[in-house]
Amino acid sequence: MARIIAGVTSSHVPAIGAAIDNHRTSEPYWQRVFEGFERSKEWIAKAKPDVCIVVYNDHASAFSVEMIPTFALGTAAEFPIADEGWGPRPVPVVRGHPELAAHIAQSVILDEFDLTLCNKMEVDHGLTVPLNLMFGSPKEWPCPVIPLAVNVVMYPPPTGNRCYMLGKAIKKAVESYPKDLKVVIFGTGGMSHQISGQRAGLINSKFDHAFLDNLTKNPKKLARMDHLEYMREAGAEGVEMVMWLIMRGALDEQVDEVYRFYTVPASNTAVGHIILENRKKAGKKSATKMKRAAARSKVHRVRS
Ligand code: DHB
Ligand code: FE
Repeated sequence: MARIIAGVTSSHVPAIGAAIDNHRTSEPYWQRVFEGFERSKEWIAKAKPDVCIVVYNDHASAFSVEMIPTFALGTAAEFPIADEGWGPRPVPVVRGHPELAAHIAQSVILDEFDLTLCNKMEVDHGLTVPLNLMFGSPKEWPCPVIPLAVNVVMYPPPTGNRCYMLGKAIKKAVESYPKDLKVVIFGTGGMSHQISGQRAGLINSKFDHAFLDNLTKNPKKLARMDHLEYMREAGAEGVEMVMWLIMRGALDEQVDEVYRFYTVPASNTAVGHIILENRKKAGKKSATKMKRAAARSKVHRVRS
């Protein structure tokens, strides 16, 4: 069966894409950001996912204020790169996985999450920047990607709890897919930031660190956080982090945080990046061994 082995969070700051495309990654400002992903690139090269589900938000590229789906799943075989005003980013076309995407749609919609299905969709920096951060700049992306676009641009976005529960439905969907596939799920966007208005430039590192801690250890607490708290503590755009809760909901309750990176600033926000692996379950053999060892130690205690 297919299984989700790990989750990744990463910011999607458009200026990161511009730094890559304009060959500025070795400038000290950007080097600090890209260095933080060196170990992540090694990790994902070893993990070798067969498919990545990327939870991201569209920035008026595929959608606009005329049409605002709350959750839009990409079911196409290919997702062209959007022209965001300076021509499409020079990155490979994103290949999809229509069969797994259709299976997820079937399962999740029957679980009462009313997804919008996109058989044709362009993807922008919200999806391609996190791919660059994790995979670098290859000629072809190393695996198919299923995009899940979430509205975090126009109020009202979905609640954190709704996102967390959708993650759980995605986990159930993936685990009922009959083919053996290793899946990694990305939650993108964040961290605290506000692009315009009186508090433009707001970054709340204390909030960001607590969010990262709770993402690993107490995601249910984060799922209870309402929009006003995001707005107050993390700025108007901080609500993007509800997307991370879809990723977290799709993992097991017990996870191991295998990597964390945090740096301020990158454009108007902090880059927050974490890799969570589902805790490996003790295999049958080792479980039996552990039981035997426990039994032996009991015998020993009784005799002594
Ligand atoms: C910036 C960050 C974002 O998440 C975004 O969507 C747009 C801009 C920024 O930091 O500039
Ligand atoms: Fe954003």
